Amino acid sequence: MRRNAATSVHALFQLLYILTVLYYAAMTDMTSYPRTRLRRSRTTSWSRNLVRENMLSAADFIWPLFIVDGEGIEEPVDSLPGVSRWSVDGIVARAKEARDLGIPCVALFPNTQPEKRSDTGAEALNPDNLMCRAVKAIKDALGDDIGVLTDVALDPYTSHGQDGLLDDSGYVENDRTLDMLVKQALNQANAGADIIAPSDMMDGRVGAIRDALERAHHHNVQIMAYSAKYASAFYGPFRDAVGSGGLLKGDKKTYQMDPANGDEALREIAMDIAEGADSVMVKPGLAYLDIIYRAKSEFNVPVFAYQVSGEYALVKAGAAAGVGDHDALMLEKLAAFKRAGCRGILTYFAAEAARLLQQ
Ligand code: PBG
Repeated sequence: MRRNAATSVHALFQLLYILTVLYYAAMTDMTSYPRTRLRRSRTTSWSRNLVRENMLSAADFIWPLFIVDGEGIEEPVDSLPGVSRWSVDGIVARAKEARDLGIPCVALFPNTQPEKRSDTGAEALNPDNLMCRAVKAIKDALGDDIGVLTDVALDPYTSHGQDGLLDDSGYVENDRTLDMLVKQALNQANAGADIIAPSDMMDGRVGAIRDALERAHHHNVQIMAYSAKYASAFYGPFRDAVGSGGLLKGDKKTYQMDPANGDEALREIAMDIAEGADSVMVKPGLAYLDIIYRAKSEFNVPVFAYQVSGEYALVKAGAAAGVGDHDALMLEKLAAFKRAGCRGILTYFAAEAARLLQQ
């Protein structure tokens, strides 16, 4: 009796042993070294090219450009090495350069003279303002060879540097601002803008602008919503470029998002899609790759990232300080956006990167 029990316990252990060995042998066969060597496909350049999952090309870029009044003017922006404000003739030349490089779209931002700025930003509604003149000039010269994206927000036109209208306490009023933004968007669409990009973060602006565009028969003017735009410390050089940096008192935290929030970004994006956005944007870019990834996973719309001025300036400063090779730093960061799920990237590197990718 006792011997029988011992024998069967022994047999059980033997069986378990055999099963364990078989299991590990099978696992080894399927997934482990040396049969699997992930370095194998990295051995040569042709093979790395063959298995590359994401590819950057000029068609991924939207090139932001700053406009200044006058003729034949190029004004370098001190805080953005390699970026200048151009008068309208220069903007047209940049748009031609973009077209020749295969960049599908440019984004325009005006540097409005102080005397044309006001509390209400009324210059935004002037059909002959710098923005409208630049849009018309590009469209006259290039037609549909290139897309023109225009930013909707009042900050390039206000004397206080905020994106909307202030009440007596200095709070940016949502609904009164909406009315201005709708008129600003129509003004841009009438000038020939192809993509209207509201960057103001007022509630309800995408729907209000879409309805107004439809009523005005601008059926094919697109909306790219700056849906998840954060109250970021990375916008400094941009504010210098459009001339609103020195004017801005306080911050934009009552309308731009808290950098600590992720779920809220998805609510913003869902609302903008429901209101008629053709594409959505996450801004800034690199610090918000998780938002890009979640947006891409959750919604079936093209997602864009804005690699903002401070991100660009950091690469320039880093390369100048010897942190690494400029072009390699630039391309690695741009590739990260594609990997995270972006359809495209607004970037001040657009022309530089496109030139490099052509080689
Ligand atoms: C305007 C606007 C800003 C940027 C794009 N549109 C600045 C801001 O919100 O203060 C920033 C872009 C950049 O930093 O490159 N609302």
